[in-house]
Amino acid sequence: MSKALVHPRVDAVGEATARRDGATFLAEVELRGASAAEADARREFAADVARDLALRPKRLQPKYLYDALGSRLFEAICELPWYRITRAERRLLELHAGAMTDSIADLTGVIELGCGSGEKLALLAGGMRRRARPLRVHLVDISPAALDLSARTLATVPHVSVVTHRAAYEVGLRQAATSPLRHGATLVLFLGSNIGNFHPAEADAFFRTVRRALRRGDGLLVGADLVKPEVDLVRAYDDPLGVTAAFDLNLLVRINRELGGTFDLADFTHEARWNAAESRVEMHLHCRRSQQVAIAAAGISVAFEAGETIWTESSYKYVPDAIAARGEAAGFACGEQWIDADAGFAVTLFRVD
Ligand SMILES: C[S@@+](CC[C@H](N)C(=O)[O-])C[C@H]1O[C@@H](n2cnc3c(N)ncnc32)[C@H](O)[C@@H]1O
Repeated sequence: MSKALVHPRVDAVGEATARRDGATFLAEVELRGASAAEADARREFAADVARDLALRPKRLQPKYLYDALGSRLFEAICELPWYRITRAERRLLELHAGAMTDSIADLTGVIELGCGSGEKLALLAGGMRRRARPLRVHLVDISPAALDLSARTLATVPHVSVVTHRAAYEVGLRQAATSPLRHGATLVLFLGSNIGNFHPAEADAFFRTVRRALRRGDGLLVGADLVKPEVDLVRAYDDPLGVTAAFDLNLLVRINRELGGTFDLADFTHEARWNAAESRVEMHLHCRRSQQVAIAAAGISVAFEAGETIWTESSYKYVPDAIAARGEAAGFACGEQWIDADAGFAVTLFRVD
């Protein structure tokens, strides 16, 4: 597993919010922390790219799709008529927010992993507002753009205080779960079918990690896209407007900009494939002609054959029982499951009994 990205600036801001330290101290921590964290992140990115492009098939990790532009392109994807995940999950949250939050007694804290825009959490928190209960929210995301957007979204919800963690899921979860301010019950959110980006063994490990971080009375809410006809699945990841293609190709733009890569975008095309045997949609970048690509910061020169691909993301599609079984195998009790049959999407609540 790659080393986690922690952004000390965000950490420091989070802690200082709680401790109300002086502005001078904060400014110093921000300046030192930001540059050191950026350098660490860049080194980790370069090492991951060098390792993953040496694999067969070549790969790149999906978390790197989310730079500032990637996060904005993802928000645009959520608006596409062919990508129904966001609207389906939003509908379920609008209809059942009360039941979802009421089922965790004494709920005072929410940790959202991979928060994106924060809009769905705002819906849930809005449901709690009627009871005027204070809610401490930890937003965990690897993308600063997503954190900025979600923190702004949550700022509009009264009775919510926000701490942001620019970090990989596991690291942010650990920071949030060990916060000295944790009291009452905690609900972890993993929405938007983020779980689908994990291969089966990674998904099992993820459930176990969350279970270990939680205590009796806490909960985990997981949104997962369901298996549906191939034509709908492929269209969701290869839309006629080319927004998903731009999202995928932007990873090469990012490597060129941040790591000194020489990818020529005209030589690569986006592909989405349904792998029925593995129950996953795969995104690939298909190379049109044989060539050599250098990536200075990774210290590599990579040979591509014509027709070879880079596998950039998997989105596993579930049946409802399989999600429940995954959580139960990690020691959770499976609570209610809310399903949008029209779009084929499920939100499942797990409890620590
Ligand atoms: C598919 S988007 C979903 C966003 C949001 N949960 C939703 O439902 O719309 C995935 C989000 O998780 C973040 N992310 C992806 N991989 C991550 C990782 N390994 N650690 C932390 N955040 C990650 C991305 O930056 C992005 O904001």
